[in-house]
Amino acid sequence: MPIIRDAELRDAAPLAALAEQTFRETFEASNTPEDMALHCQGHYSEALQSQEILDPGLTTLVCEHDGQLVAFAQLRRDPAPPCVRAARPLELQRLYVASAWHGKGLAQELMRRCLAQAEAEGADQVWLGVWEHNPRAIAFYRKFGFQQVGDHVFPLGTDPQRDLILVRSAVV
Ligand SMILES: CC(C)(COP(=O)(O)OP(=O)(O)OC[C@H]1O[C@@H](n2cnc3c(N)ncnc32)[C@H](O)[C@@H]1OP(=O)(O)O)[C@@H](O)C(=O)NCCC(=O)NCCS
Repeated sequence: MPIIRDAELRDAAPLAALAEQTFRETFEASNTPEDMALHCQGHYSEALQSQEILDPGLTTLVCEHDGQLVAFAQLRRDPAPPCVRAARPLELQRLYVASAWHGKGLAQELMRRCLAQAEAEGADQVWLGVWEHNPRAIAFYRKFGFQQVGDHVFPLGTDPQRDLILVRSAVV
């Protein structure tokens, strides 16, 4: 099983590649090439992932197997949307596992690490946005007790998409 650890600056380039690979694996079939390209250009590069790894408002966790990154998650400490009723919310901003590792328990282990981190830093609620047309991710989050409390717009390139906002207690 891959090891899960905090991301380091040396991970920035492989993390950018993994983030783009997993985003494309998940959403390419349902979106235009132009919107996918716009999103990827704006979100994934060695420079951007370096900034994210160094950002004190973010925690980036990576899963490494045989020297390769195969999954990652990011937690963000920003104000939550009003539908998230929490004193100390923490956003699970990204959780992406390479397709070869789906259904093998790695995503669950990574989620448990995220929830443990949230509890350790005193968050009371963990929230996330998930595309309404991503049934596997929605099923995965529901297994962990996340429940829908609202929705918001996620711009994928030029396409304003509807994300469901899901919340659960940060207490493991
Ligand atoms: C979402 C993700 C992290 C979940 O990890 P995983 O290893 O696939 O998760 P699991 O196999 O433990 O759970 C997925 C559940 O969805 C179910 N499922 C699979 N395909 C499904 C589908 N098309 N529709 C509905 N449910 C589906 C599975 O049966 C499983 O439930 P079960 O354990 O009760 O059988 C992983 O699939 C992933 O990285 N996907 C691509 C990136 C992504 O979508 N990230 C989330 C962005 S918000």
